[in-house]
Amino acid sequence: MLIAITGTPGTGKSEVARILAKMLDAKLISISELVGKKKLAYTYDKKRKTKEIAEKDLKKIISLEAEKGIINILEGHLSHLVEADYTFVLRTNPKELEKRLKKRNWSKSKIRENVLAEFIDEIAMEAGTGKTTFELDTSKMKPRKTATLIKDILNSYSLQKKYRTGRIDWTEKYRNVVLKMV
Ligand SMILES: Nc1ncnc2c1ncn2[C@@H]1O[C@H](COP(=O)(O)OP(=O)(O)OP(=O)(O)O)[C@@H](O)[C@H]1O
Ligand SMILES: [Mg+2]
Repeated sequence: MLIAITGTPGTGKSEVARILAKMLDAKLISISELVGKKKLAYTYDKKRKTKEIAEKDLKKIISLEAEKGIINILEGHLSHLVEADYTFVLRTNPKELEKRLKKRNWSKSKIRENVLAEFIDEIAMEAGTGKTTFELDTSKMKPRKTATLIKDILNSYSLQKKYRTGRIDWTEKYRNVVLKMV
């Protein structure tokens, strides 16, 4: 079984996935770790200061890695590109996300790009609206609580209905936060 945890950088994927993997005694697969260990090739986009991974390579390595575990948790902001049994999109409101990203040593433009992507639901949109795709607001929820909620959702059909993608929309409440950045 493959559980994908995706979301804009700063939404808490790595922390949540680490805790969840312990809770479920699952194999943790981190996309950035695969890149770091040179198991996954990338090209570097100098302008955006980001590593670009080919979707085909990602799918290939994940299918190999996932054979090693019974329950596999895949985390990374591209993990929704891989076909998983369950996909969780972590969401954080633009104001809180900006705060979290400012703690990193990132350029203003990189912070803006990511806050904007979150504002327009980019990853949730890419992840789609399937019955096994969910989104969770981590703005006020600590990683442990989010991991527990994921575990509960996996075990409950009514929670699955409640947390399907398409409910979260930052565009009204957080317009001003984003307008200030552009
Ligand atoms: N619910 C939360 N409340 C407050 N801080 C949080 C919360 N979730 C995560 N954080 C903090 O935000 C930062 C980002 O979390 P994390 O590194 O897990 O994000 P990520 O989604 O894996 O980002 P990336 O895509 O860049 O790897 C961390 O410092 C983490 O401790
Ligand atoms: Mg991470």
